[in-house]
Amino acid sequence: MTEETMASESIDSILHEERLFQPPVTFATKARINTRERLQELQHQAENDYENFWAGLARQEITWQRPFQSILDSSRAPHFRWFHDGLLNVSYNCLDRHLAQHGQKTAIVFEGEQGDTRRISYTELHREVCRFANTLKNIGITHGDRVVIYMPMIPDAVIAMQACARIGAIHSVVFGGFSAESLKDRIEDAGARMLITADGGHRGGKIVELKAAADKALAKGCPTIEHVIVCRRTGHDIDMHAGRDIWWTDAVADAGEKCEPMWVDSEHPLFLLYTSGSTGKPKGIQHSSGGYLLGAITTMKWVFDIQDNDLFWCTADIGWITGHTYVAYGPLAVGATMLMYEGAPTVPDGGRFWDICERHKVSIFYTAPTAIRALMKLGDALPARHDLSSLRLLGTVGEPINPEAWMWYHHVIGQERCPIVDTWWQTETGCHMIAPIPGAMPTKPGSCTLPLPGITADVVDEQGNSITQPDKGGYLVIKKPWPSMLRTIWGDDQRYISTYWDKFSGKYYLAGDSARRDQDGYFWIMGRADDVIKVSGHRLGTMEIESALVAHPRVAEAAVVGRPDEIKGEAIFAYVVLRGKRPEGGIDEVLTGDLRTWVGEQIGPIAKPDDIRYADNLPKTRSGKIMRRLLRTIARGEEITQDTSTLENEGILLQLQGKE
Ligand code: WTA
Repeated sequence: MTEETMASESIDSILHEERLFQPPVTFATKARINTRERLQELQHQAENDYENFWAGLARQEITWQRPFQSILDSSRAPHFRWFHDGLLNVSYNCLDRHLAQHGQKTAIVFEGEQGDTRRISYTELHREVCRFANTLKNIGITHGDRVVIYMPMIPDAVIAMQACARIGAIHSVVFGGFSAESLKDRIEDAGARMLITADGGHRGGKIVELKAAADKALAKGCPTIEHVIVCRRTGHDIDMHAGRDIWWTDAVADAGEKCEPMWVDSEHPLFLLYTSGSTGKPKGIQHSSGGYLLGAITTMKWVFDIQDNDLFWCTADIGWITGHTYVAYGPLAVGATMLMYEGAPTVPDGGRFWDICERHKVSIFYTAPTAIRALMKLGDALPARHDLSSLRLLGTVGEPINPEAWMWYHHVIGQERCPIVDTWWQTETGCHMIAPIPGAMPTKPGSCTLPLPGITADVVDEQGNSITQPDKGGYLVIKKPWPSMLRTIWGDDQRYISTYWDKFSGKYYLAGDSARRDQDGYFWIMGRADDVIKVSGHRLGTMEIESALVAHPRVAEAAVVGRPDEIKGEAIFAYVVLRGKRPEGGIDEVLTGDLRTWVGEQIGPIAKPDDIRYADNLPKTRSGKIMRRLLRTIARGEEITQDTSTLENEGILLQLQGKE
């Protein structure tokens, strides 16, 4: 099918999965990889000489202080090491090496929610990072120390991350939407010595009280924190604790503008990033320096086809992996200009993203399906008010995109001119794994297409055998280690092994997703195969929400599942057994409100259950396991086809269904 015939199809008739979009000629002509042959050449290199494929890229793309000799060391598998005897500094690679030729080039274009803007050149960014790095050193932060960053989406957050990288400190960014309780848990798990925060941030027309939450976290524990650096963003009144808290501007006042980077070995941890898994406790995903940086660079080039005159905008918050790889590191490592926006997409109205694209002439735009669906719902009139002709490439990440939203993105935002890169990856993988190379690969709405060169993704059955039959679902695995993979879970090697490697006896990395491949080998992600849900693209563990609920004095037991949601992808559905009596008719709006607030305080507002249903019991198997599949069926409002004869009390089914 040609592009033209596709374009004339109406948006309503899009649920045929066989439609194929060739790379638009105008895009492909200028793209870095723009022929199938060039792409195949890369794939062949990777297949024929795996290690040298990656080593060649690592030599070409990274400036090493001392070149590596060892490529892949599997002697401590699954703790793989890449380029481990090489020395480098990630901040040097993101900043210093661009200065001679591109010092005046804009590194960051910033726009605050209230409309304030700031442009920062590479030279200026380098200076600010050096000053802040010196400040950290002056305060006594050294190589290997953990620094927690809890900040809004402002350039200072990137400066803080880069400054840590510059001196070999390990940052752990905590999403600003997480509560004091979550912040405390992460600080304590990482044993952080310092916290960097802000008085607040602007989001959705309100102030996010970051400093107040930080104070609350520190009041409850976190004995390892010695100092708190506070960036002034909102200027509203906050408490400062004498002896502990320092304003950023005061802290950097005497700091020098030159800071020699600390050369670290390639395996030195660049950062920890906590993410949710199948247990109640978030895990600190540990990433390396050299391998991670290589993944960020190669994917900026392959998937985003980044060019010198692009304005790259990834809307992800720095609190998520996407904000690490495609805000704080990737764009800078390739010397690009990126846009950072502080606030919500709907302030002052749902046209804000398109307004920003128009005014700043964004050329590459990368966001989550949730945002696309929410903005699609607001109608075509908002984007139509803006000139979107600067856009040349669109991307999505974080959850499956439904074909309808894909088509809207394609027609209304991309105006049929821009390829869409649907990128599958994870906090653990560090960078894109399965994604189109937009100048050389046809795309299909809803599919993340094919693995990138050097990425051995596959779909396997329970025994680990490749599933060759088209459209049959199985486990998504990666069969060989890759440079930007996680190295371990901070402080818990055993959990690293059991979560990702035990399922297939250490042979394959288990992603935790289920997927299928179609007759062309294209991957279709079907969702998580574990107890993780994706709510508005945010990754949450159902067990974490359950632990939060049972910590409430009135709750005896809780089970949480995801149910499909038109905008958010998934919504949170909680079944609750109370201590004492179930509310009359299963309804107690006051308690439901209290429980939602409670979960918001325990984890963060993103984890508040959308539905809470009260029952006298949870459905359990004879061995006492909660029948989650049954709960999912009920949450979806579907008919129950499972065998429920083992239930002790079948009567609770009516309660769970909200019918009694
Ligand atoms: C899901 C986000 C479908 C998937 C970068 C994965 C996706 C989890 C896609 C990781 C995609 C991410 N299509 N599903 N393009 N990208 N996912 O760690 O379930 O926040 O395992 O990393 O998001 O979420 P995380």
